Amino acid sequence: MQKPTRNSWSKTMAKLLISIVVMQISTEVSGSGLDPIFKYIDEQQNEFVQRLKEWVAIPSDSSEPQTWDEVVRMLNVTADKIKMLGGNIEFADVGSQKMSNGQLVHLPPVILAELKKDPKKPTLCIYGHVDVQSAKKEDGWTTDPYTLTEINGNLYGRGASDNKGPVLAWLHAVEAYQALKQEIPVNIKFIIEGMEEAGSNGLDTLTEQRNMTFFSDVDYIVISDNIWISKKPALTYATRGNCFFFVEVEGQKQDMHSGVFGGSIHEAMTDLIALLDSLVDSRGRILVPGINEAVAPLTEEEEKRYQGIEFDLEAHKKDSGVTKFLYDTKEEILQHRWRYPSLSIHGIEGAFSAPGSKTVIPRKVIGKFSIRQVPNMDPSEVEKQVTKYLQKVFAERNSPNQLKVTMPIGAKPWVANVSDPQFVAGRRAVKTVFGVDPDLICEGSTIPIARNFQDVTGKSIIMLPIGGADDGEHSQNEKMSRSNYIQGTKLFAAFFYELSQLPQKY
Ligand SMILES: *[C@@H]1O[C@H](CO)[C@@H](O)[C@H](O)[C@H]1NC(C)=O
Ligand SMILES: *[C@@H]1O[C@H](CO)[C@@H](O)[C@H](O)[C@H]1NC(C)=O
Ligand SMILES: *[C@@H]1O[C@H](CO)[C@@H](O)[C@H](O)[C@H]1NC(C)=O
Ligand SMILES: [Zn+2]
Repeated sequence: MQKPTRNSWSKTMAKLLISIVVMQISTEVSGSGLDPIFKYIDEQQNEFVQRLKEWVAIPSDSSEPQTWDEVVRMLNVTADKIKMLGGNIEFADVGSQKMSNGQLVHLPPVILAELKKDPKKPTLCIYGHVDVQSAKKEDGWTTDPYTLTEINGNLYGRGASDNKGPVLAWLHAVEAYQALKQEIPVNIKFIIEGMEEAGSNGLDTLTEQRNMTFFSDVDYIVISDNIWISKKPALTYATRGNCFFFVEVEGQKQDMHSGVFGGSIHEAMTDLIALLDSLVDSRGRILVPGINEAVAPLTEEEEKRYQGIEFDLEAHKKDSGVTKFLYDTKEEILQHRWRYPSLSIHGIEGAFSAPGSKTVIPRKVIGKFSIRQVPNMDPSEVEKQVTKYLQKVFAERNSPNQLKVTMPIGAKPWVANVSDPQFVAGRRAVKTVFGVDPDLICEGSTIPIARNFQDVTGKSIIMLPIGGADDGEHSQNEKMSRSNYIQGTKLFAAFFYELSQLPQKY
């Protein structure tokens, strides 16, 4: 125990030190540092839009191997840009993929890059992807998807928001510091892939292989591959996982005529419909025992967070064309999109689906459904729970047909600690650029990369989106607004600075 006098002295010293640190931080923030950078970004904005136009013009659609050449071309262009910023590049080979016809096709590589390193600075690793979803004018685009077109302040083009715009914004943030001969306050690494829209094949293995090398000195990982939920900037701290199921019911050896066999056999389709109907009730509640019990309880802090989120329910209703939701309040709706599991039935293979009224009894049908995963669900437990439950429901039907339940995909949810220093830096950077506090949001969909990075590297991860709520990622007329693109570039530049201001471990 210290003597009281000494104790109060050290308290005073501590207070003094804290106030000095606070003073220093505030002079730097309001001082010269970021303003010239923001000015540079504003001045260069037409140039930045032009570069995005060049990137969007490369149709780097990763969905089919036929266009992987374009993906590689896009990766080459990206690597060239990083080289111009002084980065060291490695094209990491991630092997081949076996196609459904048995053919082995070499996968596009993954870019691992690093700018000049200073051991005194923290290291930020930026993840992004430069492949895109397929797009054709005939799909209903107003403009050519691969010709970036500006209309009313919006930049339309495939990849503008997902994810070429954000990747370029990171590169331009680096460029801005360099152009003004300002030292970048953090060390920067890039991991840029070209297969994200097709399942990031090979990336998990690469992450594991490079955990002790490329990732070993990384302090923070940032992902900007999602969008806000309103006009307000947001930080994303969680994504749901997904378990995808096939439930197969096999009856006779061949399809049958309902006029001949109808009424005398157990029909596979009838069994399947009963099975699918047993999964979820009309209120959206999952009926498989054990699922709801596993869900982490809503904390008071979390509940408060939901109340503060800017989300216009009426506009959301109108935009989505939904006349009535399962829940009435903004909070309930967002919670059920983000932090509770949901079960959706996607389709039936083997069903007679052509137009017309053929009276067939299909011999074998495969129902497809998925359950979005949230903490503390465990996909391998979910697989057991669903299989056991469907077997029970099926057994009660006394059907002689064959049931098979499989789960080919089991992706875990990701959730970050919102008190993590990276979120502090993100919040401050948003405040500096946009003058508001960001909303803390989640993604109802699955972005497996965050969970994979978390599981393998154990590093701090944040999602720092710059895309607007109505960017239409994956759909027709994808866009990013010029304002989001340019302000987003500033946000990234400010984020470098704010990360360097966090108490460091060195
Ligand atoms: C990409 O760059 C590599 C060399 O770095 C080259 O061999 C290859 O031909 C380039 N591919 C395309 C499609 O531009
Ligand atoms: C990856 O490396 C980190 C140290 O940087 C270590 O803590 C972690 O356990 C490693 N992960 C695996 C899967 O080996
Ligand atoms: C979250 O992060 C804060 C700050 O680093 C830490 O104090 C806290 O223990 C963390 N919480 C959990 C659940 O890990
Ligand atoms: Zn994306």
